[in-house]
Amino acid sequence: MDLKEKIKSLTQENVSEIVNIRRHLHSHPELSFQEYQTAQYVADKLKSFGIVPTEGVADTGLVAMIEGKNPQKKVIALRADMDALPIQEENDVPYKSTKPGVMHACGHDVHTASLLGTARVLSQLKEDFEGSVKLIFQPGEEKIPGGASLMIKAGALESPAPNHIFGQHVLPHLPAGKVGFREGMYMASADEIYITVTGKGGHAAMPEKNIDPILITSHIIVALQQIVSRHASPKMPTVLSFGRVIADGATNIIPNEVKVEGTFRTMDEEWRAKAHHRMRAIAESLAEGMGGKCELEIRKGYPFLKNSPELTQRAKNYAIDLLGQESVVDLDLWMAAEDFSYYSQIADACFYRLGTGNEAQGISSSVHTPTFDIDEDALQTGVSLMSWITIQELRY
Ligand code: NI
Repeated sequence: MDLKEKIKSLTQENVSEIVNIRRHLHSHPELSFQEYQTAQYVADKLKSFGIVPTEGVADTGLVAMIEGKNPQKKVIALRADMDALPIQEENDVPYKSTKPGVMHACGHDVHTASLLGTARVLSQLKEDFEGSVKLIFQPGEEKIPGGASLMIKAGALESPAPNHIFGQHVLPHLPAGKVGFREGMYMASADEIYITVTGKGGHAAMPEKNIDPILITSHIIVALQQIVSRHASPKMPTVLSFGRVIADGATNIIPNEVKVEGTFRTMDEEWRAKAHHRMRAIAESLAEGMGGKCELEIRKGYPFLKNSPELTQRAKNYAIDLLGQESVVDLDLWMAAEDFSYYSQIADACFYRLGTGNEAQGISSSVHTPTFDIDEDALQTGVSLMSWITIQELRY
């Protein structure tokens, strides 16, 4: 039997356990950086597969190695995130969350179950490949500073350093059985913007006595859009949105101060830094020119996610080889953020999407909603593809 057939049959053999793992994780979700029981469960599963993990990496993370023949030859890292979200699940399924207000609504249960399944399959194929596989189970993808950055700080990408790293994420709008790839820029950096404009409040009928922070803020909000339209290259995806403006005056009261909150997203670290600087300069000088004061604070989120073009092209071809051309799609840019980007800033990386939807069965809710669920057939694709990509890349 060739390796592709072996992977398919091993996945098939293990699929009911993989579904059980996913269901266990789904019914026992834990919030970011509190994944203690999840980590214990993952550790126990790995041990039952004969894999000894390093536990407590970045507190609730785990790293484990599967060594083939000639283990130093090449190292492929595979990553799953383990945290859930503060959402009350509304699905009425046997495996629904047993924790009020906490739910695996972003599919991280699927990612963890898939990686455990992949670990199971690859550990059964140790005699068939050269090199090593590094398994990274990380905490806290959903919460700044991002579990990925903490895993890296704790040395997850060192000794041995992987040649390449792969991660997968559910995509409910893509049918189960299909997967998606995108080379190069894929997901955005995300920064939170907090602006405080200070003027001098007073009676609205006496504007000459006041410094109107509302008018100043209006100018700042409009002026800042030139970051997108005038300063960003037309080739560079850039989003600046404000979702909160608080000016607590009245029809006849000008307030002292206005507060604004927004998000800035883009796909290049150099431009990101330049844009931060430019936004601050525009906002501060505008306020000053109008007699007021402006403080612009930027809380940096995750960097942008770049998929290595060559690696992603190869992975996509492995997927076509395993699943057929019709099951592999090209993805659009996505301005959401994902902390896998931290790995992609250091290692040669590929982050791809696993279709989990099933329109006919009514499984189509978006991630981060109380009715998100998956067609569990996707687990088979998740495990067999990750195993196949790993084996092929080790042989490449
Ligand atoms: Ni997610």
